[in-house]
Amino acid sequence: MKISVVGLGFVGLSLASFLATKGFNVIGIDNNDEKRGKIIQGQSPFFEPRLQNLLRKALKMKLEISDDFSLIKDSDFIFVTVGTPQKEDGSIELSFIKKAAKSIAKNINGGKNKPIILIKSTVVPGTIENNIMPILEKNSKKQVDKEFGLISNPEFLQEGSAVKNTKYPHLIVLGGSSTKFLEKTNKFFLSLHPNTPIIKTNYQTAELIKYANNSFLATKISFINQIANICERVPNSNIDDIAKAIGMDPRIGNLFLNAGPGFGGSCLPKDLKAIINFAKKTGSDSTFLNAVEDVNKTQINNIISIIKKSLGTLERKRITVLGISFKPNTDDIRESKSIELIKKLINNKANVIVHDPKSQKNTYQIFGNKIEYSDTLVDSIKKSQCMIIMTEWNEYRDINNSLLKNMKKKLVIDCRRILSDQKLDAEYYAIGIGKD
Ligand code: UGA
Repeated sequence: MKISVVGLGFVGLSLASFLATKGFNVIGIDNNDEKRGKIIQGQSPFFEPRLQNLLRKALKMKLEISDDFSLIKDSDFIFVTVGTPQKEDGSIELSFIKKAAKSIAKNINGGKNKPIILIKSTVVPGTIENNIMPILEKNSKKQVDKEFGLISNPEFLQEGSAVKNTKYPHLIVLGGSSTKFLEKTNKFFLSLHPNTPIIKTNYQTAELIKYANNSFLATKISFINQIANICERVPNSNIDDIAKAIGMDPRIGNLFLNAGPGFGGSCLPKDLKAIINFAKKTGSDSTFLNAVEDVNKTQINNIISIIKKSLGTLERKRITVLGISFKPNTDDIRESKSIELIKKLINNKANVIVHDPKSQKNTYQIFGNKIEYSDTLVDSIKKSQCMIIMTEWNEYRDINNSLLKNMKKKLVIDCRRILSDQKLDAEYYAIGIGKD
């Protein structure tokens, strides 16, 4: 069986590598020369645990990487995993997926088999039927559901666990008309993931499932962050005990209740904005989703208030930000709350020094010489007047009193409560813990 994957980001590269190690003939297409160059050498273009190993195995088997769409000819399945980034108004940018659809269509034109095209890219309801399908039909001169299949197949993997989630997805959604193409796809996924439930539905519902899923995750985070803010005003209260307790109620569930500086990354903020924008266009109300977004927007202000309360003005104060990636185990800083925090600190004329085990290089692309970068945790807090733990990298769990001795003023703001059990000789604030 021959499978093509168009777009080699987190989703596409993990999928292409996984499928190749399963023995399929896989073609991975990406138009970024630098990225392809790295992948061909067996290097992941971004940091993602276990992906490089999987990729190297795949390259030894049947994974071919190219920018040449003609290689997708005669594929049984073609996965579309290109990005759908955010436009200024919050809607999604369709130019990449439209271009990919056109190139795919031109290269299935004339092919003898009947390929199945699966759209994994996140798109708002109606996009597949109104935008992608006409491009595919026009440029391939073939008819959907007769000469090729077209299925919505939203993705739920998380960065940092991309390989695990690709190998063991918790759910597979297939959206499209009930045709032999849908049946073939169902069988294909069953053979790959025999224990994973499969939900079959129509295009629009499949597209909306993805937004409902991500906006519900965002909702849980904003909810717990709002409760955390209340905790900070209730002496000795502790958000982690609250999250643990309510998480034991099976109707609530214990995941995604970690209070912090707000959610970042390339997905939750973008998808929330896109569904709000979409709701507005359909004339439906999105009061609730707006509130989820508003809570997320104001979470960083609480950190600035704590610093101001303790240090007075931030001008020329040396402030250390620990962790820039939007979560641990990734070097991805897109929409990271740390970026928002650093911008605010710079606006307040603070001297900012940052540390991150993986994303210093990416951070330099944004701030250049406006801030300082430290390769070691120890150096990053030397003479610092405030330390803010933004991302829960494991190495920050080892911060102790002997390390703090090097600070000029021992002010610690722990946005992830990873030091809350330690008796720190410091002015210690944690998101979600009420002071005495
Ligand atoms: C998210 C979804 O979790 C995936 O299911 C989805 O497939 C993906 O978006 C996507 O649409 O592609 P991801 O962006 O990798 O995955 O990140 P998450 O693990 O969801 O974390 C997002 C943000 O929420 C991070 O900044 C994280 O620190 C924050 N978060 C998460 C919390 O503050 N508290 C929590 O309890 C959980």
